[in-house]
Amino acid sequence: MKRSSVCYPPGPAQKLPLILFLNFLRNPIEILIDISKYGNISHFKFGTQHVYFLNHPDYISDVLVTYNNNFIKSRGLQVAKKVLGDGLLTSEGNIHRNQRQLIQPAFNQDRLRIYAAIMVEYILRMSNHWSDNDILDVHKEFMQLTLTIVCKALFGFDIESETEEVGKHVTTLVEYFNRARMPLSEVIEKLPLPSNRRFRYAKKQLDAVIYRMIDDQSADIANGIGAHSRDNRHDDNLISVLLARSGNHFISDSQLRDNVMTIFLAGHETVANALTWTFYLLSLNNREEKKLHEEVDCILGNDAIPTPADIPKLEYTEKVFAESMRLYPPAWAVGRQAIHDCKIGEYTIPAGSTVLMSQYLMHRDPRFFPEPERFNPDRWNSQTRTNLPRFSYFPFGGGPRACIGEPFAWSEGILAIAIIARKWKMKLESGHPIGVKPLVTLRPKYGMRMKLIQR
Ligand code: HEM
Repeated sequence: MKRSSVCYPPGPAQKLPLILFLNFLRNPIEILIDISKYGNISHFKFGTQHVYFLNHPDYISDVLVTYNNNFIKSRGLQVAKKVLGDGLLTSEGNIHRNQRQLIQPAFNQDRLRIYAAIMVEYILRMSNHWSDNDILDVHKEFMQLTLTIVCKALFGFDIESETEEVGKHVTTLVEYFNRARMPLSEVIEKLPLPSNRRFRYAKKQLDAVIYRMIDDQSADIANGIGAHSRDNRHDDNLISVLLARSGNHFISDSQLRDNVMTIFLAGHETVANALTWTFYLLSLNNREEKKLHEEVDCILGNDAIPTPADIPKLEYTEKVFAESMRLYPPAWAVGRQAIHDCKIGEYTIPAGSTVLMSQYLMHRDPRFFPEPERFNPDRWNSQTRTNLPRFSYFPFGGGPRACIGEPFAWSEGILAIAIIARKWKMKLESGHPIGVKPLVTLRPKYGMRMKLIQR
């Protein structure tokens, strides 16, 4: 199809798309809110790129499910390939399908029960380490907690003593990913700028951690150290499973590295953000906080060690987590690029165009969520769940590229909220500013300084 014959949906007719681009980088959510006023499907130019913004669950379903074969990951994630290589999040086609099949068993029910015990151990350790009236940046605490859990559960590796350092490198990477979407970024990244040097250094340091985890497992396998012979290590953690497959040429050495790096990065920051926003919301909503306390006191008791069997009983806790991810979805937008022309609604999206969908906007859409700005965990009753269109709420994406870690995230989130709320109330430090920082995930812009009050 010739560009001249394309019929574009309505959208901001910027004469200088660069301005839109720069505004978008500064504040993407506000720009998307403006653009959403053009309707369920709108169009704008982002530098030379044609972007279609889809603001209806049916259109999102078309892209993520019905015509998913016609879409690949968009430019944003392709930039992430510099760090994630060809791992599960960034690969396409057969490579993706094979890797998904290999990795999926690491998230089955039996494995999740083992992970839940590890989660409980570390959450309790963090919670018991805190003192009454401490004022802490809980975002930082949750980043360290979730990083420790993902490394121990999936890689059998104890990273606890390095989390602060590693956290700084992760921040450098995600800030770089954000900047790398700018026009001329390919030129900028070759310049001898401090930010480029910082990026290369952070990547090198994280690579060293990843290779250390892989080498550690290889050594254990070579030495015949197996299940439970060391604290919480088990034969079939993700690295050892992938290592066995790499011996059989199912997966290359570089894919092994790429997937460990992918799970390492994708598996902690999202949950840490969700927990941070959850405790922020609870601190503002005393009635809901009280209801949560009643549930956790009743289900967990005073000092029993929670078990995976408690998770399904923590129904209100689950609603709190679901509602927090509605208002502050850790993955706030997903993008795709069309391979061939594709009809969405009344419009044909030409091959090569970018398609953008936002959890943040959809989850606050009054067409689907009455009083959308209100934190109301009780909205998640069975009737709402049945009646909501599938993609009006999609914190974990959907279709063949849906989050593989979703069950892991629910277990970790529910256990962390329940165990922490059993012992602690959190109060936002007075005067602490609140803002969202939509990088790859939705971080709190100024961290989250909270005062801990022992219950
Ligand atoms: C609250 C926590 C989490 C949220 C909100 C979240 C969200 C998402 C979303 C929206 C996607 C799809 C992206 C797209 O369609 O482009 C995704 C993919 C992915 N997530 Fe998560 N995630 C979370 C936790 C986790 C955890 C705990 C892990 C691993 C332990 C993980 C690993 C992955 C991987 C590997 C993919 C790529 C899957 C594929 O393409 O086959 N995530 N996540």
